[in-house]
Amino acid sequence: MPEANPYIKQYLMAAGPTPIPPKVSQIQAEPILYHRAPAFVAIYARVLDRLKTVFQTQNEVLTFSASGSGGMESAVANLVKPGTKVLVASCGKFGERWAELAEAYGADLVHWDAGWGNRVEPSELEQKLSENPGIEVVYTTLSETSTGVVNDVQALTEVVHNAGALIAVDAVSGLGAVPLRQDDWGVDVVAAGSQKALMCPPGLGFASPNQAALDRAAETAGQGRYYFDWQKTLKGQKKDPPDSPFTPAVPIFMALDVALGMIEDEGLENVFERHRLLGRATRAAVKALDLEIFGPEDENSNVVTAVKLPESIDGAKVPKIMRDTYGITIAGGQNQLKGKIARIAHTGYFGAFDILTTVAGFEMALRELGHDVELGSGVGAAQAVFLEAGVPAGAPA
Ligand SMILES: Cc1ncc(COP(=O)(O)O)c(C=O)c1O
Repeated sequence: MPEANPYIKQYLMAAGPTPIPPKVSQIQAEPILYHRAPAFVAIYARVLDRLKTVFQTQNEVLTFSASGSGGMESAVANLVKPGTKVLVASCGKFGERWAELAEAYGADLVHWDAGWGNRVEPSELEQKLSENPGIEVVYTTLSETSTGVVNDVQALTEVVHNAGALIAVDAVSGLGAVPLRQDDWGVDVVAAGSQKALMCPPGLGFASPNQAALDRAAETAGQGRYYFDWQKTLKGQKKDPPDSPFTPAVPIFMALDVALGMIEDEGLENVFERHRLLGRATRAAVKALDLEIFGPEDENSNVVTAVKLPESIDGAKVPKIMRDTYGITIAGGQNQLKGKIARIAHTGYFGAFDILTTVAGFEMALRELGHDVELGSGVGAAQAVFLEAGVPAGAPA
């Protein structure tokens, strides 16, 4: 096997951090702004406003200097006090994080694991909720990045509300890639982060509680939270002009301002459509390679495509060869899926040729590992999807 080449051109094709458009990178090289000066306050106000468009909400999108897990933690710190009855509906690694957080805050936890690679099915959730009366908050995931599964948050929200509970959704990898219409669907809290479909560096966590969630948070006040206290940040963000209770991550706000402007220019629905096309092309490539998608085959799984690797090869070597030999960084499987799947991302600043590059490298890695693959078959299938769609399928420049 060829030696790793540190000078090779790099292609970041993982599901977060994701690649960043050049103008989003460049703005961060500008001189740092004082966070109370008008120049920054204008950016801060614009970002807060633009975030509402992507979250599809009129709620205040609360921003924290943290990774996505910080946004998630805020949704537990503000809704849970010791003994709160909580149900976590998970289907992979990141769903399990909700359970860890709920335990850390002393919840009376029911953890329903739908199984890695399965969806959280609304009918099954309904059953779990009827078996466990008195659940106050349900935590689940929009896009389970460890498996590629995208859940039907609209249907899950209906089930949770019928049971009289609140729902908080981890949309760290899904927000801005697949539709999540927070207000239309009545989702109580959406948590997210800056480093995936929002095309920014890691460092900002978000939570967008609605009034019901804020009311509940008022009931749990004084339960051991400080930085992630929603009221503190809400109070500052609602001022005119808005103000942050803590020093905001100034360069990331500058980056987010540019990135959200790009999403606005492309149009959110067109952004979703681009992700749909990238997902479809990737799945077509996988099938043409005679490999299977891990999990249900789903037209909505447009954040990351998880591919079952042939059992005859050492699967853990696929991402390693791609990164060290070809400079293409994809993700392998996590935990029990290590060596069993490869995850090809298409979330954020991705276009058709990112997918073609990744699939080409993937085919070559399989061939290097001794799998009998017809070079070009996956690439050709993806090309055909892009040509048939008749759209450029490039990410905006
Ligand atoms: C679905 C999902 N939830 C939560 C997280 C955790 O986010 P972070 O690593 O930004 O804390 C990730 C990160 O990959 C994710 O994909």
